[in-house]
Amino acid sequence: MTQTPQQARIRIFDTTLRDGEQSPGVALNHGQKLEIAHQLARLGVDVIEAGFPIASPGDLEGVSRIAREVRGPVIAGLARAGRADIEAAARAVEAADKPRIHTFIATSPIHMARKLNLEPDAVVERAVEAVRLARSFVDDVEFSAEDATRSDWAFLARIFRAAAEAGATTLNVPDTVGYTTPAEMRALFAHLKAELPEHVILSAHCHDDLGLAVANSIAAAEGGARQIECTVNGIGERAGNASLEEIVMAFHTRGDVYGFQTGIRTRELYRASRLVSRLSGMPVQPNKAIVGDNAFAHESGIHQDGVLKARETYEIMQAELVGREAAVLVMGKHSGRAAFRKALTDLGYALEEDRVGPLFARFKDLADRKGQVSADDLRALVDSRSDVP
Ligand code: KIV
Ligand code: ZN
Repeated sequence: MTQTPQQARIRIFDTTLRDGEQSPGVALNHGQKLEIAHQLARLGVDVIEAGFPIASPGDLEGVSRIAREVRGPVIAGLARAGRADIEAAARAVEAADKPRIHTFIATSPIHMARKLNLEPDAVVERAVEAVRLARSFVDDVEFSAEDATRSDWAFLARIFRAAAEAGATTLNVPDTVGYTTPAEMRALFAHLKAELPEHVILSAHCHDDLGLAVANSIAAAEGGARQIECTVNGIGERAGNASLEEIVMAFHTRGDVYGFQTGIRTRELYRASRLVSRLSGMPVQPNKAIVGDNAFAHESGIHQDGVLKARETYEIMQAELVGREAAVLVMGKHSGRAAFRKALTDLGYALEEDRVGPLFARFKDLADRKGQVSADDLRALVDSRSDVP
């Protein structure tokens, strides 16, 4: 039976350990990379891009260790379209159960002319040689056209067709500088899908320079991409890459619209986020979707009252589904009486109704002064009995 786009499985290609590690200031040692790779395997990603083996002997060893020790996902090593890079990547991934070499060359006019100093024909030739060489080491070869979204569409189709004929099994379209838009990405994928052989897997790799990486990745899937490249917490070059947890939860929560499935165990998402944040030294912003401190916190009285009556009033997904504790009611000046009463009950107080009113007034004064009122503040408020004449 042919799959309609609405039933398709999307492969999650995690590049936290390669593009994510390219975040300014981030350098992970081997042990840290291995710890993250094990968590990515628990999370259920399909592919781990473990590093860029030619970059340094340390990177090569880091990728090799992951290839030797992490089972489950495909283990990929990145390589420019040249012999030394590809041989280093081949050595690094050789111990993996499922090794992949991911080779790339730039295809946009500005990159070909100013960075590579190569004519388009020569770029196609290099791509073909690189894919052939990579295929002499492994069966699973991914080819990326760097800066694809600023490339000529006919040229992109030409180089991808040549790469597929040379043996590439996945063709990746990077929005290297975060320049594209969802509508453009959807159309580009629909165009490439019509132009390229059916057996190849189309992939999207989006950067977040305009804050569109997740939207562009989803649009790519709607256009025909069946692999999405992303990172935990969206870390990566400049403004970062598409955020893995946001894409996965968008597909999960709005299955009615997208219908895409991933193999991700969503209950491992929060653990992965905390681990990557701690080891990379990159804090997660409090209002970050899915994994930020405030993502499941309610402060306003209206919202708190609603959630106490039925969580679905203000929660489109439950915190437990991504491995977090149930949503919290933050006690502050916007909190209402219902949340105040619930907080006291949770702390073990069973107060007469005629005490709750005066205590609530004192709580509001305190919240005006402090912003957020902690459990200890609430205990002190009740235990001091300052409300009792
Ligand atoms: O952003 C990019 O173009 C890349 C490629 C190497 C895939 O990271
Ligand atoms: Zn990238």
